[in-house]
Amino acid sequence: MKVACTGRSRALGARIAEHLGTRLVETNLSRFPDGEIYLRTGLLDETTVVVGSLLGSETLVELLLLIDACHRSEVLLVVPYLGYARQDREFKPGEPVSARAMARALSHGVSRVVTVNVHKESVLSHFTVPASQVNLAPEVGDFIAGLNLENPLILAPDRGAVPFATAVASRGGWEFDHLEKTRISGEEVRVEPGKNGPWTGDVVLVDDIISTGGTLAAAARMLHAQGAKGVHAVCVHGLFAGTALGLLHSAGISRIAASDTIEGPNSLYSAAGPLVQALSR
Ligand code: R5P
Repeated sequence: MKVACTGRSRALGARIAEHLGTRLVETNLSRFPDGEIYLRTGLLDETTVVVGSLLGSETLVELLLLIDACHRSEVLLVVPYLGYARQDREFKPGEPVSARAMARALSHGVSRVVTVNVHKESVLSHFTVPASQVNLAPEVGDFIAGLNLENPLILAPDRGAVPFATAVASRGGWEFDHLEKTRISGEEVRVEPGKNGPWTGDVVLVDDIISTGGTLAAAARMLHAQGAKGVHAVCVHGLFAGTALGLLHSAGISRIAASDTIEGPNSLYSAAGPLVQALSR
């Protein structure tokens, strides 16, 4: 078995290869004069684990080309971050179900798909091959344990994140709670306390995705106004769109951590172990 990965999933690809005790195959990328992507990958085994997060149209093309380049192998596809998954239904007539379009496109030429904390489980049913996800709640819990905070409160910024926050909190035996979120626009949200609070100790906000940072920045401002001692944020997929990191820091979030499903300076823990376990099941 060998591992091949796209350019933006190199660190995680290398970690997966290391866990599997195998090699990361070199893949070279360049451009044709018209801007189209040219890709060439090394020699593969009977089975190849292809690793690539879906982070917009360029990464989709790269991933499709890489899967095709592996056509002589059985391909086990790992999509650490499945972009477009939040458009998981036709909210307004005439819209695509983007999650379905991506899942169908990524099902060709692969025998299985594994992803990480997909926004909604139902998205997996759009793949036309067996698809599963791993939940990084235990890894988030272990990361928080390493911060050595005194009795931190694990806080979900909205009801949707409650199952995730519950699983994180159970890892360390911590208290958990949730806020009430109303989305006003793509960037703007209103966050109100749930039934409990105010919280005066260390609070760790946990969520599946940080995109614009609007959700957690609004939560952090409210928590500081209520007297929280410290506010930290740990997510699975750190998209950090635009000025998200600046927004989060200016809202008083001292630590911001994400996994390596989207690689960047805030990738402080890894999805490699759980992904390899899922592949070997
Ligand atoms: C939404 O339901 C997700 O779980 C996240 O809360 C959301 O994607 C975060 O987006 P943003 O960082 O743009 O507020």
